[in-house]
Amino acid sequence: MDFPFSDALKRLPEQFFAGLVHKVGLLEKEGHDIIKLGQGNPDLPTPQHIVEKLKEASDNPAYHKYSPFRGFDFLKQAVCDFYDREYGVKLDPTTEVAIMFGSKTGLVEISQCLLNPGDLALLPDPGYPDYMSGIELAQARTSLMPLTAENDFLPDYDAISDSDLEEAKLMFLNYPNNPTAATADQKFFDKTVELAKEHKFCVLHDFAYGALGFDGEKPQSFLQSEGSKEVGIEMYTLSKTYNMAGWRIAFAVGNASVIESINLIQDHVYVSLFGGMQEAAAYALTTDQTCVEELVHTYESRRDAFIGHLRAIGWEVPEPKGTFFVWLPVPRGYTSEEFADLLLEKAHVAVAPGNGFGEYGEGYVRAGLLDTEERLLEAAMRIEKLGIFSKA
Ligand SMILES: Cc1ncc(COP(=O)(O)O)c(C=O)c1O
Repeated sequence: MDFPFSDALKRLPEQFFAGLVHKVGLLEKEGHDIIKLGQGNPDLPTPQHIVEKLKEASDNPAYHKYSPFRGFDFLKQAVCDFYDREYGVKLDPTTEVAIMFGSKTGLVEISQCLLNPGDLALLPDPGYPDYMSGIELAQARTSLMPLTAENDFLPDYDAISDSDLEEAKLMFLNYPNNPTAATADQKFFDKTVELAKEHKFCVLHDFAYGALGFDGEKPQSFLQSEGSKEVGIEMYTLSKTYNMAGWRIAFAVGNASVIESINLIQDHVYVSLFGGMQEAAAYALTTDQTCVEELVHTYESRRDAFIGHLRAIGWEVPEPKGTFFVWLPVPRGYTSEEFADLLLEKAHVAVAPGNGFGEYGEGYVRAGLLDTEERLLEAAMRIEKLGIFSKA
């Protein structure tokens, strides 16, 4: 028997990138060597000292039982120490930290926590697609905030209508930004806090790429802005900072009432993560951070090699300031999807078409710096051979 899905499930947006994965799979089956820059999965392993800590902690029988529902105190304290050390932000581990099963989970949950059917969320376009999944499950509405090159891929708050500002209950932000690779400064976040206070909405800042800033610029935490805890929270994942995407561990920090709402929904849906993992995560956050510096250096040098070659063949591409993505303007005469298809079929280079991240992503493709420098250069050379670009 086939049981019909609930209306809530039917509202979920289509997984846009499933189609891309399928096309790549077909070409690989035919024996082609595809350079896969379409997804956002870190290619390097978790640093060995963190893996060793998990192995050691796995032997502890205390962790073989259910963990405390809201996570171990030692992990929440480690999160507070991390925020104090990295950003000078003081947090209360008992009320201002929630442990989560990766930030994807939290980003979907937050809409269930704060939005009723018909409520309005302010959503960046282009943006990480899962924000929308949560909004749809909550039966809420969106007001899109276009991120354009003219505005350095920051939302233009003056362009949001007064009625949308009045109605908004939640605003999503994400810097360093996926997919545009833009960063935000303190002035922008200060302005955001002011706006949120005035219009009484909650700000959710997704800080997934918080560790990945280039050219010596450390990305700004939303919580570094005065008054930010009154109006919002920040979500931070270990997936990108420590190449722990498969481990599924993240946390939310900030406004105590929002943190309580996340803890409350999680009390009903989960028991907390395996204790050994929590110990390894606490260790990752509080021990020597050389591995993070090395990772940033690796992505930066991949960026320089890849961008350098693309520019040399005549493709005018902006330099990413953070994340491990490059947001590439599509040459005239192609849509995002047509150009991504061309790169895949003729150059065997997979990139993500920008329109998959929203309407304002049209005109771009996103490439991940998630292969070796040699393979990224090989990708650039394959693109050069298409003869689309002309050298100045
Ligand atoms: C902007 C952004 N937020 C959140 C996530 C989710 O990260 P995780 O669920 O691994 O914590 C990703 C993953 O690609 C991302 O790009």
